[in-house]
Amino acid sequence: MTLSQNQIKKKYNRFSLFYDLVEWPIEKLLFSKWRKKLLKNSKGKVLEIGVGTGKNLSYYNYHKIDLTVIDISKGMLNRAKEKAKKHDFPVKFKLANSEKLPFEDNSFDYIVCTFVLCSVSDQVKILKEMKRVLKKKGKILFLEHMLSRNKFIAFLEHLHNPITKFLFGFNINRKTIENIKKSGLKIVKDKNIAVKDVFKELEVTK
Ligand SMILES: C[S@@+](CC[C@H](N)C(=O)[O-])C[C@H]1O[C@@H](n2cnc3c(N)ncnc32)[C@H](O)[C@@H]1O
Repeated sequence: MTLSQNQIKKKYNRFSLFYDLVEWPIEKLLFSKWRKKLLKNSKGKVLEIGVGTGKNLSYYNYHKIDLTVIDISKGMLNRAKEKAKKHDFPVKFKLANSEKLPFEDNSFDYIVCTFVLCSVSDQVKILKEMKRVLKKKGKILFLEHMLSRNKFIAFLEHLHNPITKFLFGFNINRKTIENIKKSGLKIVKDKNIAVKDVFKELEVTK
């Protein structure tokens, strides 16, 4: 069963206190390098969905972007605000649900979404909202983990999913590629980056 918006909010409000600590090893080992590479070319009006504790904030080129970030969890957003103070660049923060983005159609050149689709309640709904606010020639950049096509890995993911969902509020067995296609978006880059096809870097357009 999928968690409700309220359950997700509550989980991440609680998780915000120790999120960076829990993720520290994998962040150091892998995620930080992936984030740096993903974000180096973003420019113009950028929207980050589910900013969390603001782990991407160190990797944007603030001279080239006008950055807005949103999250459904006040706890996570407050952590991100603390991080942003270190960079001394203007970032617009909004407490918002990505199922109903508080922005006009065709507003952003880039949308950034890292490790968020695993925790939202309805992937297709959120992807359609991203499509709506993305400019015609805009790009959505993803780092996500998802259900593998490899049967053994998929079996392990299904087996462990109740644990990650209960403890941290995220799923490890989502059919993310299928749902991106269902939302009407086009995948222009699909790169496996770790654990066969579990961790992926994706570039998506309208
Ligand atoms: C696993 S964390 C990832 C945080 C960050 N993007 C990162 O790379 O570390 C998922 C984040 O998505 C947020 N989130 C979940 N559902 C959301 C929704 N419907 N709208 C906005 N944010 C949401 C959570 O509050 C949480 O901060």
